[in-house]
Amino acid sequence: MTEMFAANNKAPKEQKPKGKGKNADKAAADGASSSTAAAAPVAAAAAAAAVPVAVAAVASAAASSSDAPAAAGAATTENAGEQVVTPWEVNAAGGVDYQKLITEFGSDAIDANLLAKIERVTKRPLHSFLKRGIFFSHRDLHGVLDRYEKGERFYLYTGRGPSSDSMHVGHLIPFLMTKAMQDMFGVPLVIQMTDDEKFLWKNMTLEDGYRFTRENAKDIIACGFDIKKTFIFSNLKFMGGAFYENILRIQKLVSEHTVKKMFGFSESDNIGKFGFPANQASPAFSNTFPFIFGAKSTVDCLIPCAIDQDPYFRMTRDVAPRLGYKKPALVHSKFFPALQGSQSKMSASDLTTSIFLTDTPEQIKSKINKYAFSGGQVTREEQERLGANCDIDVSYQYLSFFLDDDEELERIRVAYSSGKMQTGEIKKRVIEVLQKLVAKHQEARKLVTEEMVDEFMRERPLEL
Ligand code: TYM
Ligand code: TRP
Repeated sequence: MTEMFAANNKAPKEQKPKGKGKNADKAAADGASSSTAAAAPVAAAAAAAAVPVAVAAVASAAASSSDAPAAAGAATTENAGEQVVTPWEVNAAGGVDYQKLITEFGSDAIDANLLAKIERVTKRPLHSFLKRGIFFSHRDLHGVLDRYEKGERFYLYTGRGPSSDSMHVGHLIPFLMTKAMQDMFGVPLVIQMTDDEKFLWKNMTLEDGYRFTRENAKDIIACGFDIKKTFIFSNLKFMGGAFYENILRIQKLVSEHTVKKMFGFSESDNIGKFGFPANQASPAFSNTFPFIFGAKSTVDCLIPCAIDQDPYFRMTRDVAPRLGYKKPALVHSKFFPALQGSQSKMSASDLTTSIFLTDTPEQIKSKINKYAFSGGQVTREEQERLGANCDIDVSYQYLSFFLDDDEELERIRVAYSSGKMQTGEIKKRVIEVLQKLVAKHQEARKLVTEEMVDEFMRERPLEL
């Protein structure tokens, strides 16, 4: 490990150290009451700062930011400056400032121009996640689309860290986008289950890790992936061969100094963590999968994920040219917020923040009613007079992810923010939408057999 490499690594755009703040408990405390008007001005200001992210969205969640009540004047970047977004922590008082993340991480906004290109290349209407700016940032998507238009194929890569046997609704975001992209482009897909990662980071046995891999794989398969075009693998079982060879090549190029800086590891972290980023990087190179791509190391790779995973892929993109490989392209999503509000993401490690894919209709109803942070006013009269702030209203945010009907979403936004709709009514609607989504998922999951899991996880050629 030479310092030289670390120094070379300092491409300012790709590589920025992240994360320090430790105000997690503060944020959790904020969520305790379901309607805190006091928190609104700060949050609205941060939300307003985030407006530029709003793409050429139709009736988008972002579009509503401009009429956020307390936004004007109060808007400063001070509060947004506190935000911490790492693979392990999302914490931003007043809501994540996504525009700021684009600047800090050095990615590019998915703008109207790129959206038009996606529509043209796929010859299909845009997916709502793109139209509404939920996937808001990218790296090198233009290049992948240009080459695709000329007939060159790429593959998709995404993953999941199986930390328990149930996933939450937020986890669906990258997988649903990936499924839509597999359909739009007809391309192969690899899905990494990082059971090794969760063993190193969590208090969890290897046996549980692999069991969670298989259980989570069922949820992933239930999203509808094409079995002839999809390979799901457990790091624990797939390690070795071409995969491990790439891991070693990557590890040799990354110094301790660099991983500490990029991932915030410290001297007291176990040594497994230091090596792990290479395990997540390697599947971005096509020769990791010789049974799919032969010896080809130059097939384009596109990675859909939420923006928290970006540090791994900044590292991946740093090492790629030095290995003679192509840098992977990425599309980043915003976070599906915690029930307590958009200062943090829905997270499986805190049960009260999440709607799980195993929840019953009653559980969904009670969690939304009890915990979903409201951007509405405290009394009926005040709500009628002042209206709600949709930018911080969790029910509205959830609807903007999962309510298909653009017109209904816009009607709700107008009615709720003008005070014609009360919090109870929007909660009722989001409960219906989530109950339906989760029930549909549970139906699909019931049809996934152990044999199907075996087949998805078998090393085999995919249809190209
Ligand atoms: P994990 O299991 O934490 O998360 C899996 C995927 O879900 C995204 N995600 C979310 N998206 C929207 N809203 C949320 N609240 C939310 N919470 C999580 C994550 O960004 C991720 O895309 N180390 C990874 C596993 C992994 C991976 C990959 C992910 C391995 N290779 C390649 C993406 C791409 C992990 O533990 O993810
Ligand atoms: N196996 C393919 C070949 O021999 C490589 C390939 C073609 C490919 N199309 C692809 C890889 C699409 C990934 C995606 O040409």
